Amino acid sequence: MNISFRHLLSADQVTQEDIQAICKKASFFHHNTSSSIFDLARGKILASLFFEPSTRTRFAFEAAMQKLGGNIITLESGASSSTKKGETLSDTGRIMSGYCDIAVIRHPQKNSATEFAKHATIPVINAGDGSNQHPSQSLLDIYTINHFHHRLDELSIGIIGDLKFSRTVKSLVQLLAFYKRHTFYLISHPSLKMNTETVAWLKKCGHQVIETKSLQDTLPLLDIAYMTRVQEERFDTKESYDAVKNHYRLERAHLTHAKPTLTILHPLPRIAEIAEDVDTHTSAKYFDQAQFGLYIRMALISEMLGLEI
Ligand code: NCD
Repeated sequence: MNISFRHLLSADQVTQEDIQAICKKASFFHHNTSSSIFDLARGKILASLFFEPSTRTRFAFEAAMQKLGGNIITLESGASSSTKKGETLSDTGRIMSGYCDIAVIRHPQKNSATEFAKHATIPVINAGDGSNQHPSQSLLDIYTINHFHHRLDELSIGIIGDLKFSRTVKSLVQLLAFYKRHTFYLISHPSLKMNTETVAWLKKCGHQVIETKSLQDTLPLLDIAYMTRVQEERFDTKESYDAVKNHYRLERAHLTHAKPTLTILHPLPRIAEIAEDVDTHTSAKYFDQAQFGLYIRMALISEMLGLEI
């Protein structure tokens, strides 16, 4: 095993060496489609436990395991498992350890993956625990940034939309903080700002942080525009969501003065925050980003299972 963690529960467990090892392996899977890869995980089973909706994360993990030659058992909705009868997540984790070799869990509660992993004897990956963390997404975001910019230092990074509830943002800034001299432009509605502790911590790590409201004025300065969906499911009322949901919308016309090397990323799904006419712009990389998620998940599964190529 070339990585330092047993479970992947939060981005703050990941070291710079881990990022390197995972991205190196992901790059191998990205560029080699040799059939010998398809045998790596033969006989191994991945449990895919999704208590919240998912398209990319769930299918990328399941496709990754199948591409590695392993099998999956899957739970699409918590309603069909014993947690509905009141079983604790830590009991479920203990039980699943007897049936499979690695587990991926998404759940609406913060720290649910940690609870699931408490007595698990198999590696556990947090695929999103409420508004808390989504570490495998941040690894694929880093992989995508490095793929298009060939560096992870000194980037001008706009993070736009829901900086309060987005778990992908929370995980991503933790990984980006390792690198040197970034300028973060935090662009959000005042009620969806990044929490002040994280802002202070980024500054302490040596980065510049600029909080601003204007996406259009900031766009020409950016190397990366990381768009996010306003996380409707985390709001207490529909009215409070409606009041902020359409605050930012990136349209093709806004890109006239953007750097030619700008990359527009989004963990997806996008709702209205990126107009469809942006999709064909050379800076639009969010569909590549989603594709790269497959290679990162192949890398994570093989590293966490200790499978050597
Ligand atoms: C994200 C998530 O679930 O946090 N989606 C994903 O995993 N690609 C982002 C979102 O739902 O807005």
